[in-house]
Amino acid sequence: MSDTVNEIKQRLDIVDLIGEYVKLNPAGANFKALCPFHNEKTPSFIVSPEKQVWHCFGCAKGGDHFTFVQQMEGVEFPEALRMLATRTGVRLEYRDPEEHNYKTRLLDLCRHVAERWHSLLLNDPAAQAARDYLKQRQLSRETIEEFCLGYAPDSWDDAIKFLQGKSFTLKEIFDAGISITRLDQSGQAGDKGKPYDRFRHRLIFPIRDVHGNIVGFTARKLREEDTGGKYVNSPQTSIYNKSQVLYNLSLAKAEIKRLGYAILVEGNMDVLAVYQAGTKNVVAVSGTALTGEQIKLMGRYAQNVMVAFDADVAGVTANLRGIDLLWQAGFNVKVIKLFGAKDPDELIRKNPEDWKKAIREAKNFMDYVFSVTLEPLDLKRVDHKKLAAKKLLPLLAKLGDAVERAHYLKKLAEILSVPEETLAKAILKFEEKKPSLKKTETPPITIEPGRAVAEHLLALLIKFPKELELVMQRLKPEMIGFSPAKLLYSQLIIYYNKDRHLAEKEVLAALNAESADYFNQLGLLIDETAFNDTPDLLHHEIIQATGRLKELYLKGRLKELSVSLALAEKQKNETEVTSLTEEISRFNSQLGEL
Ligand code: CTP
Ligand code: MN
Repeated sequence: MSDTVNEIKQRLDIVDLIGEYVKLNPAGANFKALCPFHNEKTPSFIVSPEKQVWHCFGCAKGGDHFTFVQQMEGVEFPEALRMLATRTGVRLEYRDPEEHNYKTRLLDLCRHVAERWHSLLLNDPAAQAARDYLKQRQLSRETIEEFCLGYAPDSWDDAIKFLQGKSFTLKEIFDAGISITRLDQSGQAGDKGKPYDRFRHRLIFPIRDVHGNIVGFTARKLREEDTGGKYVNSPQTSIYNKSQVLYNLSLAKAEIKRLGYAILVEGNMDVLAVYQAGTKNVVAVSGTALTGEQIKLMGRYAQNVMVAFDADVAGVTANLRGIDLLWQAGFNVKVIKLFGAKDPDELIRKNPEDWKKAIREAKNFMDYVFSVTLEPLDLKRVDHKKLAAKKLLPLLAKLGDAVERAHYLKKLAEILSVPEETLAKAILKFEEKKPSLKKTETPPITIEPGRAVAEHLLALLIKFPKELELVMQRLKPEMIGFSPAKLLYSQLIIYYNKDRHLAEKEVLAALNAESADYFNQLGLLIDETAFNDTPDLLHHEIIQATGRLKELYLKGRLKELSVSLALAEKQKNETEVTSLTEEISRFNSQLGEL
């Protein structure tokens, strides 16, 4: 749908569109008019052909093609879209209106039931146990409200009855994951299968998508001795795709962007505690391994992640829970060490200052893994040395970055006091062994290194083209590894050198078809929050992304060069060795300058 929006905007200049309704007079690079939305004698209504937006400084209304038509014609977005599509001859992508309406119904349903559970939690006498529980967990009224926590009563049909009263059907209630129907032997919902509430006598955490819509729930039991699992979760539904949702991203995203990093924790309770402690850039994976889709989503907001997983994730070595995917996607990963607590929530409850300190002292992921692995070992003993190598080498083999890997290989050699070559040989064994995927497992999504960063940078440049001049000076196209991004970036530079002016529409016209498509897609990556950022912040973000890409490029080149160097050394080709060594040190010092 967004492609349609873009296409309409490309085909129809906003100046022409608005010019049909009001008389526009040129004023510098813009046009001015008397505002059609409020009464005024001097014009304060501005249309910008460059940005293709309008704004009234008198009544503070503003927006794009669509908001203008909506306000002018008094219609909702879908109607404005249809009107402009007809007007520009853009074919509306077929979208089943029934399906769309149905999803909207399910979202409405979730919002309604969340509100009910929330108000029960706050006011209902039966929810006393839940209120006591929250008190014991030291969650403030403000936190409870911000997260819209709720209480699902001890009843088999309270939610069903409530929702039916709001004229939702049994099918809708079931499809939103609120009810369960007992299945008969053939797996069908038999006649006897009377639907009943999924969540009973539990503390409710609504789960929101990145836009803030409630799409599902997770529900905690109130006393350890209560029946059932500690958490009961909504199933996957047509509005809740678990691999695409990060708990709390909707509330955290602006802060993640502002600070340049996300804090990743494992539990809902941890999110609440961490958020309440004032570190609002926190999201959770909710007990599962991180997926490629979640990583991509997070990459829209930051390229740095601090992980605060449960302490027993010294099982980190055995089970990376997707952290390795974060490296592959080019993220910088640090680990927040939780001294004397099993999770962030516990640490904060003991002493909030310890939490702040733990963040300040977060360690690079690999350093962390080294310390947890080696701590219990007596490295004077040969069997313990072997154990250390056995645990750490497979992980080092996974490190995509050759420089980083060389660094840690050397470190390990020193710690174990064995020759580096011995370890270098041993690690080969792990490299060749591709983990065999079990049939039931879906293969992990691999993301080209630096792709997320490059796309983020390009998206920012599309929205804030003035920054291109600066980026151009620092980043050559060949430094971008992902080829569609490289291509688009070089076309932007060529265009800019010709014109020194980057109106989105004109740039688009100058791009080849492939890059134009890509350009439109990337434009969507930028969240509305970007527009609330100060120019300083945006500038900073652009510089950061540029630096990160350069770093990835330099490290990649160094990796290639070190392979060539090894070869030249083997062939005893001295001139080659000298020139490669020089080149390597040049790249190394460039890397140091970053
Ligand atoms: N989880 C789940 N089902 C369970 C246990 C855990 O879905 N039976 C998920 C929940 O999303 C939970 C996360 O895994 O938030 C982490 O589990 P855990 O650390 O046990 O829960 P906490 O959030 O720390 O809850 P509490 O502090 O209340 O024990
Ligand atoms: Mn916990």
